[in-house]
Amino acid sequence: MKGTEKQTLFFQPTFGNKPECIVGRDGEIASFVHGLKEPIGSRERCTLFLGQRGMGKTALLLELEDRASQNGFLAVRATAHEGLAEEIIEQIQLKGSAFFKEDRKRITGVNAGAFGFSFGLTFSEETRKQFGFRAKMSMLCDRLAEKGKGILMLIDEVRTSPEMREIAASYQELVGDGKNIAIAMAGLPHAVSGILNDKVLTFLNRANKVRLGLLSLSSIEAYFEHAFTSLGIGFSDEIIKQAAERTSGIPYMMQLLGYYIVQFTRTSHAIDEDTLCKAGEAAIEDMENNVFLPILSPLSDSDRFYLQAMAEQGEIISVPKLMEKLGNKAPSFQQYRRRLIDAGIVESPRRGELVFAVPHLAEYLRKEPLL
Ligand SMILES: Nc1ncnc2c1ncn2[C@@H]1O[C@H](COP(=O)(O)OP(=O)(O)OP(=O)(O)O)[C@@H](O)[C@H]1O
Ligand SMILES: [Mg+2]
Repeated sequence: MKGTEKQTLFFQPTFGNKPECIVGRDGEIASFVHGLKEPIGSRERCTLFLGQRGMGKTALLLELEDRASQNGFLAVRATAHEGLAEEIIEQIQLKGSAFFKEDRKRITGVNAGAFGFSFGLTFSEETRKQFGFRAKMSMLCDRLAEKGKGILMLIDEVRTSPEMREIAASYQELVGDGKNIAIAMAGLPHAVSGILNDKVLTFLNRANKVRLGLLSLSSIEAYFEHAFTSLGIGFSDEIIKQAAERTSGIPYMMQLLGYYIVQFTRTSHAIDEDTLCKAGEAAIEDMENNVFLPILSPLSDSDRFYLQAMAEQGEIISVPKLMEKLGNKAPSFQQYRRRLIDAGIVESPRRGELVFAVPHLAEYLRKEPLL
């Protein structure tokens, strides 16, 4: 394998790709796979992963797709945008057709399909026109059950959207009918805070919610050690420790920092403090553009006003002190405090205290004030 190919294998700072190795999520993966073995309708079979941008939601769903496939499921992935229901059906047909190759060979002019199908997982013309998502899914579940397979729907970028309404209602009905089906969804922290689409909201709220937080620094250190050793890049234990600290446990930051370290050690083949510093600066710049800006852009002017005031206070925000500073603006603070917590931007670890949930964001706001 060529050097560049090898490098891109270890560090690929792009969104939506499947990393070479999923770092620090063994617990979440194991619980989910374990949950798939629980009886139909169990809460674990309907899981919602919530996490901020760059926290690895898509990466995790991609991994679960593989793991579920090894555990008796036909796993299909789609994003919760327009056409979601049709896409799920198409994906099942595409991926599942591999299990019906033999059946297809046996067709000798007569219609060898099961009820509702012309062959394999292809619906007959009549079924295609007559039935909706739930009925089609029910037929697909039965057909795949003949091959000992369940269906896992993996839905990314989930929110309380109309597209999710049909999926949520159908999932519950299919479970009621005893079909071997499971669902894993991933979304931003505020995916479950809406007031509009209440049926979807109830469904999401009842799901087994798993928060994707920061990775442990020890798991990042171990990955850096493994990757840099494989790439022939020298390092000291101390520099690896510092590198892991610079990521603050953010998966995307880990990919970025690793990527820039590789770039900046092309001639020296070893990481020193200067290289780490330069790589750290380049990584933060990408974080600003690809994580901080998308987090901040949907915020209202009032959200921004409060967030900026919080950032000015430092990493730990004392609510009484903030109220004092805000003076007559303070009465509406509770509402914005809630909104910023729901959006996964700040957390309230203790009464009267707030902290930024996204590392480096406060620093960024102080550097580039919003107002
Ligand atoms: N556990 C992990 N181990 C290694 N790399 C990871 C991990 N999680 C995510 N990554 C990497 O971090 C980057 C961002 O991950 P991903 O695209 O999954 O984020 P996301 O949470 O889906 O973000 P968004 O909300 O913007 O869609 C990708 O390059 C991905 O490969
Ligand atoms: Mg994503």
